[in-house]
Amino acid sequence: MTRSSAPGKVYLFGEHAVVYDEPAVLCAIERRAQVEVEQRSDGKLRVHAEDLSLDGFTVEYGAAADDRPDVDVSESLVTAATQYVDSAIEQVRDVTGDEVGFDVTIESDIPLGAGLGSSAAVAVAAIDAGTRALGTILESDELAERAYRTEYEVQEGQASRADTFCSATGGAVRVEGDDCRPTESPDVPIVIGFDGGAGDTGELVSGVRSLREEYDFAADTIEAIGDVVRNGEEALVDDDLEEVGDLMNFNHGLLSALGVSSRSLDTMVWAARDAGALGAKLTGAGGGGCIVALDPTPEAETALSFTPGCQEAFRAELAETGVERLE
Ligand code: PMV
Repeated sequence: MTRSSAPGKVYLFGEHAVVYDEPAVLCAIERRAQVEVEQRSDGKLRVHAEDLSLDGFTVEYGAAADDRPDVDVSESLVTAATQYVDSAIEQVRDVTGDEVGFDVTIESDIPLGAGLGSSAAVAVAAIDAGTRALGTILESDELAERAYRTEYEVQEGQASRADTFCSATGGAVRVEGDDCRPTESPDVPIVIGFDGGAGDTGELVSGVRSLREEYDFAADTIEAIGDVVRNGEEALVDDDLEEVGDLMNFNHGLLSALGVSSRSLDTMVWAARDAGALGAKLTGAGGGGCIVALDPTPEAETALSFTPGCQEAFRAELAETGVERLE
């Protein structure tokens, strides 16, 4: 039996625009997905998942592609929770060349589809645990690449390398096109608000793509996000948290113009700002899920925890370590 964990992440700057090769800056956070695998002799895959969005269920299906899971929850939930594992295990099989089966147990404290990189963390931890179970230890770069291919496949090409690279390596990372690199970890006081919901990344990315094709000003908005990110990077290097916060606010406004915010995300953003946060923006694909605010005081977290529509508010420490090999 092997067990690995990998962290979730927030975007300080640059989601969506990163899909069009603008830069983005992300931080891994101490909310993790843990995946345990045990090899099976019958080639089947059995997945047991527990996380914030699903109470816990088990699906079992065979090696044949048309074998359907036999499970008593809605198909979309099963699909959401298992297709990343399924695809990650395909990567494991690709590394080792074996049609091996596994019992896979996922425990995650990263809400699903909420902009904190749950699927990337599950993919990274599953590939790491699966390959180690077969005696192969992947370098962090190959792990990130294979986790990226997992997301790319499940999201039908609508994925950047950002989430999976950040989850595999930990710390803060900068991504621009295929160029992913660790960057100096900023000392930023991160507060997260979660509305209990989720956004559909594929749909949101497609929506932005259509806008960009239809209107030059939407394409300009995406380029403007790139400019905000470059300014944000300088502010991070200068440790100028006030400017970082202002630029996060600007970034949120541009994302909102692209149609990827929501009423609950905007409500949480304003609750954090009204409580004195230096800045606040949605994180990830949007549509619902999480916001990230910058606040060294307890005020934003407290205000968010009393905000109708905010299901959970918490402070997030930067995760210095990416994938962790536990057993
Ligand atoms: O919501 P998440 O964690 O899946 O982040 C999506 C980020 C996008 O930039 C919108 C898409 C991508 O793959 O980079």
